[in-house]
Amino acid sequence: MATIIGGVATTHVPSIGKAIAEGKQGDPYWKPFFKGFDYVHYWLAREKPDVAVVFYNDHGLNFFLDKLPTFAVGAAKEYRNEDEGWGIPVAPAIAGDPDLSWHLINALVADEFDITMCQDMLVDHAVTIPMKLMWPGKNRHPVRIVPVSINTVQHPLPSLKRCFNLGHSIGRAIESYEPNMRVMVIGTGGLSHQLDGKRAGFINKEFDKLCMDKIVNEAETLTHYSIHDFVEEAGAQGVEFLNWMAMRGALTGNVSEVHRNYHIPISNTAAATVVLENRSLAERKAA
Ligand SMILES: [Fe+2]
Repeated sequence: MATIIGGVATTHVPSIGKAIAEGKQGDPYWKPFFKGFDYVHYWLAREKPDVAVVFYNDHGLNFFLDKLPTFAVGAAKEYRNEDEGWGIPVAPAIAGDPDLSWHLINALVADEFDITMCQDMLVDHAVTIPMKLMWPGKNRHPVRIVPVSINTVQHPLPSLKRCFNLGHSIGRAIESYEPNMRVMVIGTGGLSHQLDGKRAGFINKEFDKLCMDKIVNEAETLTHYSIHDFVEEAGAQGVEFLNWMAMRGALTGNVSEVHRNYHIPISNTAAATVVLENRSLAERKAA
């Protein structure tokens, strides 16, 4: 059976991709952020995931404002990237796992999530940058992915509760998947930031800390924030935290935080990296 080993959440702003391309990981401006991935590399080398389910939001590369699904699940053999215009090199294609994708899609529809199924899907920096951060220098990543896109761009957005429940549904589906494989979940984006308007540059350190604290074992309490409350507290683009909520929802066992890094600012974003370990019921019984 498939095992959910844990989750990683990380910021995904495009300037990280440019910093990687220019080899600036050791620069004083960037070092506090990139150093936060040393533990992630150690954890991935130890845990050896086979597949990553990636919750992210598309920024206009695959979906645009004319057609924007609330939830979309990839079911492709591979996922290509294209030039997004940020000055980031186009990333190599990432291998998919169509069998797992269709298993998740079936489970989601059975759980009454009306998703869009994508047998051809471009993935943008919200997928490619976290992959580069987790597996630096690799042209072929050691994991296959199932991308799950959540609309954080065009209102009305799904609620925090809806995204948490989406994650639950995916977590249950992974645990019912027969092939033996080690699955990690990833949530990308956030934390607090606002790119435009009167509050451009807005960062809320206290609220970010609250979100990082609560996401470990009290994520349910965060579902009481409405989307508008959340925009007020975290900024217009801080709602990318919806991807973190789905990631956490997919961790169905005993969850503990094993790593956290928080750094202000990258570009005009509060940058956060978290690793949550998941001990499934079967593992707990065996221990
Ligand atoms: Fe973003």
